[in-house]
Amino acid sequence: MPPAEDTLLTQPTIIAALADQAFDSLNRGELPEARDILLQAMELEPQLTQLHAALGSVYCQLQDYPASTEAFSRALELEPENVDLLKQAALVHLAAGQPAAATTLLQQAARLEPADRQVAELLQRCREPAAKSVVSPAREPEKGANSGPVDFQPIADVLRRRPASAKGCISDDDAKFIHTTIAEFRPDVVFEIGVASGVSSAVILKSLEIHAPHAALISYDISPRCYYDNSFAVGYAVAAMHPEHRVRFQLITGNGKLAQGKRLVSAFRRKLIFIDANHNPPYPALDLLHTLDLVSPGDLFVFHDVNLPNAIPEFAYSCGAMELYEILPQTKWHSQDPLKNVGAYRFDGNYQALWQILSRYLAPHKITQENLAALVWLAGKARQA
Ligand SMILES: C[S@@+](CC[C@H](N)C(=O)[O-])C[C@H]1O[C@@H](n2cnc3c(N)ncnc32)[C@H](O)[C@@H]1O
Repeated sequence: MPPAEDTLLTQPTIIAALADQAFDSLNRGELPEARDILLQAMELEPQLTQLHAALGSVYCQLQDYPASTEAFSRALELEPENVDLLKQAALVHLAAGQPAAATTLLQQAARLEPADRQVAELLQRCREPAAKSVVSPAREPEKGANSGPVDFQPIADVLRRRPASAKGCISDDDAKFIHTTIAEFRPDVVFEIGVASGVSSAVILKSLEIHAPHAALISYDISPRCYYDNSFAVGYAVAAMHPEHRVRFQLITGNGKLAQGKRLVSAFRRKLIFIDANHNPPYPALDLLHTLDLVSPGDLFVFHDVNLPNAIPEFAYSCGAMELYEILPQTKWHSQDPLKNVGAYRFDGNYQALWQILSRYLAPHKITQENLAALVWLAGKARQA
């Protein structure tokens, strides 16, 4: 049985301490040390897929391809339908000059995720005479939001129908930024984390309808009821603000249902992840960490409340999005209205930079097994890069 997702390690445990040491060794490029520590950690926690994957990645860096393949096979025994693992295992075979074995894994990945660009690229690579590993190129940076003439009137019409009861939602200026960003980026999917009344959902639906009508909005909230008034169901404002939208919309609520949303989102290519959930540190960073495995270079994150403590001084403690947004690397840009409370960050595929930023930022905070696993995954991606 995999460890319970919500198990909170309120005191240092051996496994967490070992994983910390492994991260430090990985960071210093001390691969044999990282390998030994991961092996120790796995004796205690043999069912943690990410530990096997991290070990596979370390062995690959050490060019011990048979050991790397074995580690990824164990990870795949635990999660046979994990496309990311299938790709990583295929990359090891490619590095070892075994395109036939890589092809078998990639064909399995292609059956699970037919739209995955990297799987198609790797399969193409397998057909080339000297097959070797491939990294997807980053898209050209696009111009910052608020720089083009985008008609805001349809969004203003939707916002006028915002229920008086709605609280804690995006402002008109935030909506303008989100609308402009969608108009410029034209995503295939928006994954919204943090819905409450659903004012932002209604805005996103209208914006997609105009600029990306093929797209879908998948929204997730940890609670089925509004945090400020239990008598309202989460998302109730959508019916009031934009009842006849023509965009595919799936609202998922309930603790532990993030994975369900992620499964839906992973079927799409061009992704915009809108994060507006718990703003206390370190939750925005955790929301980013737990959605990083969805994105490809060029995809966008948009964070709400990146200036909340300055915008509303009573919320000084809700500085998680602000802290995170400050430390994220380029390319990022934010709204130009006086509050400057919403910001975009374009993921460029630099896992190494994110690993360094997030592991340092999260270090002083309590860590759950689920977060630990996500960090180990990121460490593996950083090593691969
Ligand atoms: C600020 S409100 C969202 C406002 C909404 N985006 C809008 O503009 O209308 C934050 C919401 O995030 C939800 N939330 C808190 N922690 C969460 C988590 N870990 N995952 C998903 N939703 C979460 C809360 O239940 C709350 O409904």
